[in-house]
Amino acid sequence: DEDPRINRIKTSIRVVPNFPKPGIMFQDITTLLLDPQTFKDTVDLFVERYKGKNISVVAGIEARGFIFGPPIALAIGAKFVPLRKPKKLPGEVISEDYTLEYGRDCLQMHVGAVETGERALVVDDLVATGGTLCAAINLLKRAGAHVVECACVIELPDLKGRERLKGKPLYVLVESH
Ligand code: PRP
Repeated sequence: DEDPRINRIKTSIRVVPNFPKPGIMFQDITTLLLDPQTFKDTVDLFVERYKGKNISVVAGIEARGFIFGPPIALAIGAKFVPLRKPKKLPGEVISEDYTLEYGRDCLQMHVGAVETGERALVVDDLVATGGTLCAAINLLKRAGAHVVECACVIELPDLKGRERLKGKPLYVLVESH
């Protein structure tokens, strides 16, 4: 049934209560990265799903999408495009604001990084409310790309982020309640 690699991935994620603020159960993937086999298994599971799907762009979300996105991009022969927090990219950008639990944030992408008609995969470590992935999807759509799927290591299904993804499919390796 379930791939045996999934359970090792699940148990290698450290859950830190009340970080960064009271009431938040922080899903810490740095412990997963400490075990090279588990890190490789994580990347491999995505690569097995996306290779041969004609994906030409992997868009990774700052910051932890920058850990999982590039090895996936290299393995499937796609370019890597960083979606960054404001004022980090030096070139001309397009921006999408989104709401966080407390306040607002913004993601930016370089104009010209993606061409019309490209097939894109969006990668991050975790989907909570889905606001961040929604902003990423909007950026890629505005650039004329087709978002094939969003891929995350962890989903917090209770927050129903999946429903905010403009109908785009979401693939996750583990769920946390
Ligand atoms: C976390 C996580 C996702 C986002 C998910 O990033 O890595 O990017 O929150 O939340 P959402 O589904 O409710 O939008 P964070 O905001 O902690 O930023 P960081 O990676 O730069 O620390």
